[in-house]
Amino acid sequence: IKTPIVILNFKTYLESSGENALNLAKDLESAAIESGITMAAAPQATDIFRITQETDIPILAQHIDPINPGGHTGSNLIDCMIESGIKGTLLNHSEKRMKLSDIDEVIKSSKERDVFSVVCTNNIETSVAAATLNPEFVAVEPPELIGSGIPVSQAEPEIVEGTVAKVKKINKKTEVLCGAGISTGDDMHAALDLGASGVLLASGIILADNPKEALINLVSKI
Ligand code: G3P
Repeated sequence: IKTPIVILNFKTYLESSGENALNLAKDLESAAIESGITMAAAPQATDIFRITQETDIPILAQHIDPINPGGHTGSNLIDCMIESGIKGTLLNHSEKRMKLSDIDEVIKSSKERDVFSVVCTNNIETSVAAATLNPEFVAVEPPELIGSGIPVSQAEPEIVEGTVAKVKKINKKTEVLCGAGISTGDDMHAALDLGASGVLLASGIILADNPKEALINLVSKI
């Protein structure tokens, strides 16, 4: 997948659920065409199929469970997600933490099925642990800055820089993203300057008065 990349995590905001999820995915698609920057979405499981039918942007699952088909009520099965059209998975988000062994299992099943993995981490140490599992992306997000509007790339640049340096030592192929509080062109510019290959973000775009305009602004200084 081409970087720099913007991944918009739809979480469970009403502004990015159901019909609104589809509209937001269409905004991402037109912002991607206009800017030439890769824009991907991680909508809720129930919205994935409709969005993959009606747009061409890469779609990620917000979570995959480490299960095989069978008796696992309430779980997200990777095979079903792939049939719905996902190209990637978000794993271990701070709002949906996983055990290291389960992250490993899902990264392996994603690779077998040609789906890329984005493992979220909360600091440099967990980023290092995640990188040893060989995902395509590690996305570092200090939990206290999530939803705060205070951008990690400006408030805690050492976490982004440190993650890039240590992850690259372990695994040259794994790319680093950063997230938490990112919303403006300056925030994204700072993230790329620190060595990140893109951003993972949510509220700054989802809750903006005009999400499409906010997306164009986000990538305006690349
Ligand atoms: O997954 C992205 C996220 O946790 C960051 O959230 O609202 O600070 O952009 P936000």
